[in-house]
Amino acid sequence: MSGVLVVGAGGHAKVVIATLRAAGMDVAGVLDDRAESWGGSVLGCPVLGGLERLEQSADRAVLAIGSNAARRDLAARFPNATWATAIHPAATVHESVKLGPGTVIFAGAVIQPDTVLGQHVIVNTGATADHDCVLEDFVHVAPGVHLAGAVHLEEGVFLGVGCAVTPGISVGRWTTVGAGGVVVRPLPANTVAVGIPARPKEERIKP
Ligand SMILES: CC(C)(COP(=O)(O)OP(=O)(O)OC[C@H]1O[C@@H](n2cnc3c(N)ncnc32)[C@H](O)[C@@H]1OP(=O)(O)O)[C@@H](O)C(=O)NCCC(=O)NCCS
Repeated sequence: MSGVLVVGAGGHAKVVIATLRAAGMDVAGVLDDRAESWGGSVLGCPVLGGLERLEQSADRAVLAIGSNAARRDLAARFPNATWATAIHPAATVHESVKLGPGTVIFAGAVIQPDTVLGQHVIVNTGATADHDCVLEDFVHVAPGVHLAGAVHLEEGVFLGVGCAVTPGISVGRWTTVGAGGVVVRPLPANTVAVGIPARPKEERIKP
């Protein structure tokens, strides 16, 4: 095993690589299906080629792609891959926290006791999840999101930069909350919600 393979050569990959290095993990290289990226580098890590290498490699890998649906699809495409987790040393993660394969926690994040993170979850820079939260598979909480205690984000939820969620609130699967939204009531599945309080966008924008 020569290090972790980083999947995706975009901006999110830079933060994943920085996190892996800060955690003392070697990065074997970057994989991306976009041929124009091959031969280039991301933060000094060479882009080695396409994702088919994941099928042959024994290296662990991280899906370094911000899109929740893209991470879901790639996890399904490579069911035999071994996924690494990465926690930045400047994040605070209580010892009782459980996290699934492929999950990454960036600098400044704080995860409090008994919170559970599924697989391929992203807790972005400076985001916090208080006690007893559940972040299901493929959730992404963007920089500066704050979850109060016992918040439940179902599969694939995306919370934009600076969102806040009040205690005990659930957000339905694959729902997006726009930047700066404050969620004070449960939100249904497959919705885009914005604002304070966060409401489904159609209601807010076309009353
Ligand atoms: C909510 C969001 C997903 C909507 O994207 P979109 O469908 O492309 O929407 P548009 O930019 O076309 O905007 C449509 C309307 O929604 C409004 N709107 C967009 N985002 C909004 C937000 N976060 N809060 C309030 N209103 C918002 C726009 O002002 C616009 O209103 P108008 O029609 O009256 O002018 C997006 O704006 C957003 O907030 N994304 C979060 C991005 C982010 O945090 N990324 C972090 C990466 S780590």
